Amino acid sequence: MTADRAEALISLRGVTKVYGQGATAFLALKGVDLDIHPGEFVAIMGPSGSGKSTAMNTLGCLDRPTGGEYRFHGVPLQGLDRDGLARLRRQFFGFVFQGFHLLPRTTALENVELPLIYRGMKRQRRREAALQALADVGLAGWAHHTPAELSGGQQQRVAIARAIVTGPQVLLADEPTGNLDTQRSHEIMALIQRLNREQGITVLMVTHEADIAAYASRIVRFVDGTVASDEPNPHPAQAPAQEAA
Ligand SMILES: Nc1ncnc2c1ncn2[C@@H]1O[C@H](COP(=O)(O)OP(=O)(O)OP(=O)(O)O)[C@@H](O)[C@H]1O
Ligand SMILES: [Mg+2]
Repeated sequence: MTADRAEALISLRGVTKVYGQGATAFLALKGVDLDIHPGEFVAIMGPSGSGKSTAMNTLGCLDRPTGGEYRFHGVPLQGLDRDGLARLRRQFFGFVFQGFHLLPRTTALENVELPLIYRGMKRQRRREAALQALADVGLAGWAHHTPAELSGGQQQRVAIARAIVTGPQVLLADEPTGNLDTQRSHEIMALIQRLNREQGITVLMVTHEADIAAYASRIVRFVDGTVASDEPNPHPAQAPAQEAA
C-alpha cells in the first residue's frame, strides 16, 4: 500500500467534504481513500447523491476537501492558495461534462482555442493546436461550425477536444454520455478509450450505466459518501472499430 501510494498520480486519504454549515451541514464525503495511477481509466459509479460529482470536483481540484489529504504527484495540496490550485488545475486537468458547456454562436475552433487563450498562447500556435485536437476527436472539417450546427455527439467531441487541447495528464468526465443516445454514447466511449490508450491520458469518468463503465479498467463504487467497492475490470469493453464523427 505504501509503495503503491508513492507512485500514485493522485492520492486521497480520509477525504471529507461538508456542504453548508450548522444545522443544515451535510457530509457528502465521509472519509475517502483513493489512489489513481498514471494511465488508469477509472469509472466511478453509485446511486444518485452518493458523492460521485463531489469526489470528481475534489479529484479535479475544482473544489477543496473539508478534511483529509490530497496529494498530486506526492505533493500535498494543503499549502496551495486559490491561484495555486487554479494553476494546477489548468496545467494538469481537462474536464468534460454531461451538458457539453460549449459557448453558443462560437465556432468549434474558437471553443477549443479558449483554454489556450487563457494560457496566453499566440494566435497561430493556438489555431494549430485547436485544429489538431479537433482532428484527434474526428472533427477535422467541422472547425467553423457553431454548436447549434452540430449533433449532440459532435458537440461532446468538441467539448473533449477543448479538454485535451492543453495536453492534460488527467481527463475528468462527469456523465459524458448522459445526453447522448446509445450509438453516440459508444462512439464517445471509443474516443475516450483511444485517448487513454494512445495518448496515455489518465481518465476518471462518472457514469450511471454499466455498459459505459465497462470500457474502464477499474470500477469504483460510491455509496453514501464512501467508497463501497474498488475493483479492476480485467476485460474492458472494446470500442467498435468504426468511429463515426
Ligand atoms: N453545493 C452543494 N450544496 C449542498 N449540498 C450539496 C451540494 N452539492 C452536492 N450536495 C449534496 O451532496 C450529496 C452528494 O452530491 P453529489 O452531487 O456528489 O452526488 P452524485 O453522486 O454526483 O449524484 P448524481 O448521480 O445525482 O449526480 C447530495 O446529497 C447532494 O444533495
Ligand atoms: Mg453527479
